[in-house]
Amino acid sequence: MYVGADYYPEHWPRDRWRVDAKLMQEAGFNVVRLAEFAWVNMEPIEGSFEFDWLDEALAVLRKHDISAILCTPTAVMPAWVARKYPGTLAMTPNGQRIVWGVRKNNCFTSGAYRLLSERITRAMASHFADTPNVIGWQTDNEFGGPVCVCDTCRADFQDWLRDKYGTLDELNRRLGTHFWGHKYTTWGEIQIPVAPGNGWRLAGRGRLSTHNPSLCLDWQRYYSHLNVRFQRDQVRILRELCPNHFCTHNFMGIFSDLNYYHLAEDLDHVSWDNYPVWHKPSISYGSAAAADVMRGLKRKNFWIIEQTAGPGGWSSFGRNPRPGEIRKIAYQQLAHGADGQVWFRWRTCTAGREQYWHGLLGHDGKPLRRYREAAQTAKEYRKLASDLAGTTIKADVAMIYDYESIWAVRIQPGFPDNDYHEAMRRYYDALFRAGVSVDMVKPTEDLSQYRLVVAPDLNILPDEVAKRLSDYVSSGGVLLTDCRTGVKDETNLCHDRTLPGLLTDVLGIVIEEYESLDDETEHRIVGKQDIEGDYTAVKYVDWTTPQTAEVLAAFDQWHLQTFAAATRNRFGKGTAYYVGVIAKEPAFYDQLIADGLNTAGVSPILAPPEGVEVSVRQGANKKLLFLVNHTEQQQTVPVPSGKRELLTGETTTDSIALDTYGVAVIKL
Ligand code: GAL
Repeated sequence: MYVGADYYPEHWPRDRWRVDAKLMQEAGFNVVRLAEFAWVNMEPIEGSFEFDWLDEALAVLRKHDISAILCTPTAVMPAWVARKYPGTLAMTPNGQRIVWGVRKNNCFTSGAYRLLSERITRAMASHFADTPNVIGWQTDNEFGGPVCVCDTCRADFQDWLRDKYGTLDELNRRLGTHFWGHKYTTWGEIQIPVAPGNGWRLAGRGRLSTHNPSLCLDWQRYYSHLNVRFQRDQVRILRELCPNHFCTHNFMGIFSDLNYYHLAEDLDHVSWDNYPVWHKPSISYGSAAAADVMRGLKRKNFWIIEQTAGPGGWSSFGRNPRPGEIRKIAYQQLAHGADGQVWFRWRTCTAGREQYWHGLLGHDGKPLRRYREAAQTAKEYRKLASDLAGTTIKADVAMIYDYESIWAVRIQPGFPDNDYHEAMRRYYDALFRAGVSVDMVKPTEDLSQYRLVVAPDLNILPDEVAKRLSDYVSSGGVLLTDCRTGVKDETNLCHDRTLPGLLTDVLGIVIEEYESLDDETEHRIVGKQDIEGDYTAVKYVDWTTPQTAEVLAAFDQWHLQTFAAATRNRFGKGTAYYVGVIAKEPAFYDQLIADGLNTAGVSPILAPPEGVEVSVRQGANKKLLFLVNHTEQQQTVPVPSGKRELLTGETTTDSIALDTYGVAVIKL
């Protein structure tokens, strides 16, 4: 089990390195991540490399038994790169190149940038291949920006489209360019569909591109491919020169400008950056969901490679993690499958844009409260290591997490507030409250291992995926899906079938009409059968006509009385739910999820009080139950008795008390 911090020896005098390494060792740390922004320190002049300082830092760390993950430093180009090769800087939609001086400012099709990136990667990899305490590599830093609209990118996008569609006729047909007379007669006429003033994102709230939505989707796919290709060029070199090191990247959890499934393909494991301490303390549903997305990318455990260590902010800073919170944040990730844990950052820097992004140590470099809490956590992790070895989450419930639908909804939300992640969280949070683990999976995953599959806002539904969902239900699975599912095909054209298209028989419903609701309009919905209580539909309603399906919630509103708000349908050996509304009350989703779990025969391991998270990591002949108290109140949780709680060594009775931000790990 690796535990440590992100460390920047280049920020501090050399005589401090020994002090830092010793403090890390005393804290129980055994790993650091180094050098992701240190390109100019390693190649101060083009083609002339200086690694002595990093050799020395690594040697100091090694004396204290600390291993290192090195980074390819391409997230910040040296000033000389921008000066000598201005085409390496990304061009913004207003036609100007980014002004050098921030980070993530390169164009990914610039030949010069790609060559320079390969050269520094090769130089680092050959120099550090045999350094004993180097164990792995992080590529770049947080891929995902900027978007460049230069002529090289446009020409490369045209080539990518040519590879994809083969002929212009095919492209015109698939992208539906008959609309608004947008037919292309040569490849060179194709534009990047980003409108001036649209910022660097293609689409997002309040700044939608009004280009052809199918071209927009292809541009988003192409942009993702550029990042994946750039990383692949580096990984190829790292694999060739450092075959014994692992390769990872620091993903950003719920970040969806890239297809993270693709970005993860070339790596050994996924790592991610978790910053949940903002605003008022609250239950960390978001970090739980993000962890499950991260574990789903390669369907294996992940690392946290940047973990909140203190108040964060680039200009002004947010709140300080309260006593116990740093440890609680770490345990939540451990419970979701983290196999490595690195705090960002070791010491708060005294210069630059992140002077107020606080580390475990403050500006003064003293090992105070936050350091002590991380040290406690690191020591506990060491104690748990042998029990944790070989364990991961085995979920009965999957949620389909689909970048293509996320993009389609962003490009054309349909109803104004349609937000994929909000849709996902309606069900995810209910599963969290029920104490049930979730695997996040791609739409083409083999679903047969799951008893319940939730597919929120699956806007893009290729026929192949519809068929998989249908087969899954007919052979006994339980599916729950909702508003706007299956509206589009894979080229972002509306299907020309009555909704829900190929899922009509599975869901046992027909949707001939639907509408958005303005902010003032709410409709009362009334639970039927296994759903109890009254709820409020907001934002959007499907006018769902049940055919073979039973009604689980009905409308009060006169013009919607013949339609269902939620349905359940037996199909083959399985059952399929459809939710054609957005309810204001989380309790509506708690009820639906409870019914879905019941139908699927999934029983939560225990019923946690609100704010206590439950997760199980298991491996050959072992099962560890994690309890994480996200609240500031003491909580009492019913648990199996006669088991060993591994942190205290005590034997459980039929309940356990968790302090403010308390955690427990019970060996079942
Ligand atoms: C991350 C990034 C780090 C640091 C941190 C705090 O997104 O990878 O380099 O900038 O945020 O701002």
